[in-house]
Amino acid sequence: MKFFLDTANVKEISEAAKLGLADGVTTNPSLIAKEGDVDFKTHIAAICDIVSGPVSAEVTSEDVEGMVREGREYAAIAKNVVVKCPLTRAGLTATHQLDSEGIKVNVTLCFSAAQAILAAKAGASFISPFLGRLDDIGENGLLLLGDIIEVYRNYDWKTEVLAASIRHPIHAIEAARMGADIATMPFKVIDQMFNHPLTDKGQAQFLADWRKSGRK
Ligand code: E4P
Repeated sequence: MKFFLDTANVKEISEAAKLGLADGVTTNPSLIAKEGDVDFKTHIAAICDIVSGPVSAEVTSEDVEGMVREGREYAAIAKNVVVKCPLTRAGLTATHQLDSEGIKVNVTLCFSAAQAILAAKAGASFISPFLGRLDDIGENGLLLLGDIIEVYRNYDWKTEVLAASIRHPIHAIEAARMGADIATMPFKVIDQMFNHPLTDKGQAQFLADWRKSGRK
């Protein structure tokens, strides 16, 4: 399973890259807004300088023409930019057009297997089911992820399944168990994946014993 960073924060992306945990990056308008008054294209270019894998840049137009125009502009920023389009009728029409021009599209805001099938048929390179946001309304995001993986296995569609809206390590573990192609995670979740109290306790004990034995 590939690890994407679900952030637009350059410091977090650099830190994950040093750990070999930044196979790609997903941004969205809310994540870009958190970075303050940055120029969008310059910021995406800076991320692409750090990460050689796919970097998603989301369109903000609501009509097909606007999405396609933005998509072409974003794809020109760097060769690893993937255009992110919402799972709306306009978004899938734009996806189909951009795909026909050789531009990769990540279809975002997917909340049903039916939507995921439509995205694959439209030519999406990635489909992003949002696990956490389904959990937030009392549904089970992992069941959706499992459904999509099961359906996609029946065909040789090129669309990779990108588990998104991941909120905790259990989401990441279960996505890996199901064979999701990618999990995109906030840096906080990657950090949580490191943690185990017995690792900390064991390491402290090893070092204490080493020092007690007179070694430096
Ligand atoms: C990723 O591509 C999505 O934009 C992201 O995972 C959304 O996560 P959230 O539900 O935590 O905002």
